[in-house]
Amino acid sequence: MYMNEDYFRIRINSIHPAQPVPFDIYIYINGKYIHYLRDGDSITKEKLKKFESKAPESFFILYEHKGKYKDYVHDLIESDKVSPQEKALILRESSIALVEELFESPNVEKALNDSKVIISDFINFMGEEPEGMADLIGLSSHDFYTYNHSLDVSIYALGLGQVVGYSKEDLKVLGEGSLFHDIGKRNVSADIICKAGPLDENEWAEMQKHPEFGLAILNQYDVSDAIKACCFEHHESFTGNGYPQKLHADEIHPMARIVAITDTYDALTTKRTYNQPMSPEKALKFIKNKLISRFDPDLVNAMYSVLFQL
Ligand SMILES: [Fe+2]
Ligand SMILES: [Fe+2]
Repeated sequence: MYMNEDYFRIRINSIHPAQPVPFDIYIYINGKYIHYLRDGDSITKEKLKKFESKAPESFFILYEHKGKYKDYVHDLIESDKVSPQEKALILRESSIALVEELFESPNVEKALNDSKVIISDFINFMGEEPEGMADLIGLSSHDFYTYNHSLDVSIYALGLGQVVGYSKEDLKVLGEGSLFHDIGKRNVSADIICKAGPLDENEWAEMQKHPEFGLAILNQYDVSDAIKACCFEHHESFTGNGYPQKLHADEIHPMARIVAITDTYDALTTKRTYNQPMSPEKALKFIKNKLISRFDPDLVNAMYSVLFQL
């Protein structure tokens, strides 16, 4: 993981083509940061495409320009000259850089505060663009990295919350809770997190501690009970055989029930080294036929609306 303190990694797809970019962009090649784009210059669509496939992980800005970058993204999301599809891409790609920081940064309090901005941007976008949720879902990565996974679970959870009638305020809490549901994985060894294959018994036992680890982290900060529940109760099952508390149906926090189903859905539709991803249709069928007893049945039905009727 590159963590040079002077530079902040961005996704090149979060840059809009053919418009002046108000900060310098660097590219990391052969151990060096090389000046790539000067403040005020713009990048062509063709060039963006080329880099997107060749070196999507290699673009950086100066850390001190992070504020400028956030404002730049915010202006694009508000602009009426940018299409909803482009906005969805910019929003998702810019958030990944921030989510990565949420999981890497030692300052969890700052990460919790920064995440509020990300979630608000998503909720505003969903409110302003009726097709926005479908665009966002269409961009789900299907690659498993904790960052992508957390962001995708958050996006699905916001969609599900919207379908079941959550207020904007509740959506903010749900969005944050789902973004941090796996925060406890910070304390699980990287060898287990990154293992390319099924876990053995001991590794699995360690992995299953992540809800407790997460709760212990969140307990150190001023965080609502609902956010803590998203983290601590997202592996509970309606039948009472989940973990860590073996809660039953109504004992599970409603927001944690949303995270439970969106978390499973994302796992089923994501490619890992040892399984092929399911299509959305197949994954929902699988949940309905094989896993239905684990979840709130109303939410299983609402997932259909999120994925196919929005
Ligand atoms: Fe989890
Ligand atoms: Fe998860």
